[in-house]
Amino acid sequence: MNAPLIDPFARAITYLRVSVTDRCDFRCVYCMSENMTFLPKKELLTLEELDRMCSTFVGLGVQKLRITGGEPLVRRDIMTFFNAMGRHLDAGTLKELTLTTNGSQLERFAGDLYAAGVRRVNISLDTLDEGKFAEITRWGRLAQVLRGVDAAQKAGLRVKINAVALKGFNEEELPTITKWCAERDMDLTWIEVMPMGDLGNEDRLDQYWSLEDVRARYADHYTVTDLAESSGGPARYVRLEETGQKIGFITPLSHNFCESCNRVRITCTGEIYMCLGQEDVADLRGPLRAHPTDSAPLEAAIRAAIERKPKGHDFDYSRQRADGQMSRHMSHTGG
Ligand code: GTP
Ligand code: 5AD
Ligand code: SF4
Repeated sequence: MNAPLIDPFARAITYLRVSVTDRCDFRCVYCMSENMTFLPKKELLTLEELDRMCSTFVGLGVQKLRITGGEPLVRRDIMTFFNAMGRHLDAGTLKELTLTTNGSQLERFAGDLYAAGVRRVNISLDTLDEGKFAEITRWGRLAQVLRGVDAAQKAGLRVKINAVALKGFNEEELPTITKWCAERDMDLTWIEVMPMGDLGNEDRLDQYWSLEDVRARYADHYTVTDLAESSGGPARYVRLEETGQKIGFITPLSHNFCESCNRVRITCTGEIYMCLGQEDVADLRGPLRAHPTDSAPLEAAIRAAIERKPKGHDFDYSRQRADGQMSRHMSHTGG
């Protein structure tokens, strides 16, 4: 095998997050603006190009591949790509093939995903209240997502629910969401809202709810034990002893986890972001398209990008709004 990808801070890059589309059937307020203009199709990597891109990374030591978007399951023929990636699972070079989804299309795709080798999905769901769900997603239907959750579990997929913690929005729902996940044997991860995209009418800072508070809220009602285990992502986990359930916390703001970062992101146009919370970007589509049968130039471009991976993100709510905020939408890099 080729030498693995090691960044300037001695972190091995073994986790690749790949956005396969900028489109989504929802418009979560913290992720997209209401009137998004989507990219013309020719800008997107084709499914064959996505295959070559991901396979090159697997050849360079990537063991975990997470497909994101936009909403990955709205990309036409996306199962062709999942099926193709299954060969790396069969070969043992890839340890995990997974996705982060809003759940809206899972009723249709859960079985196919399982057949392709996916064993776990992360489903984004911030509220169990129909009205609030329609508000945060701008027009999504909760019932459709709940059917998707059911379908995923029926198909044998392990489900993790991702909820963005939003003050004044889902604060009161913490016990309900926690109980709902426990009853269904699903893990739950809370995410601190990050200052990205346009603020529109709301102020992200007002909505920011530190996960230290969330943890304290749990400690009021449960015995909370820290767990050392990791899913290879940024979450730190605790167990609620009374229910045995696992709760994750993704805390880019209150507890930076960059020192153990193991991941980079590819956008649907083939750019590589070395960090979610930094604007530095490099083009990989150029070398990929210019050399359809030779992967050496692409590999060289990947290595050059990894050499530039920064120490950590630049998110900061304590600075002035204008500068603590990144204009790029979260949907561009897939979270
Ligand atoms: P697991 O495999 O279940 O651990 O998933 P994951 O946490 O790696 O993936 P998921 O897509 O569920 O990530 C949830 C959210 O965590 C993302 O959408 C981001 O908002 C955030 N996140 C993931 N990685 C990073 C990171 O490197 N930096 C920051 N700031 N946030 C991240
Ligand atoms: N801050 C934190 N998480 C976000 N997500 C989208 N936008 C933001 C943001 N500004 C989350 C979604 C989903 C994942 C892909 O990213 O809720 O779980
Ligand atoms: Fe779509 Fe996910 Fe962004 Fe919501 S967070 S708009 S579901 S990509």
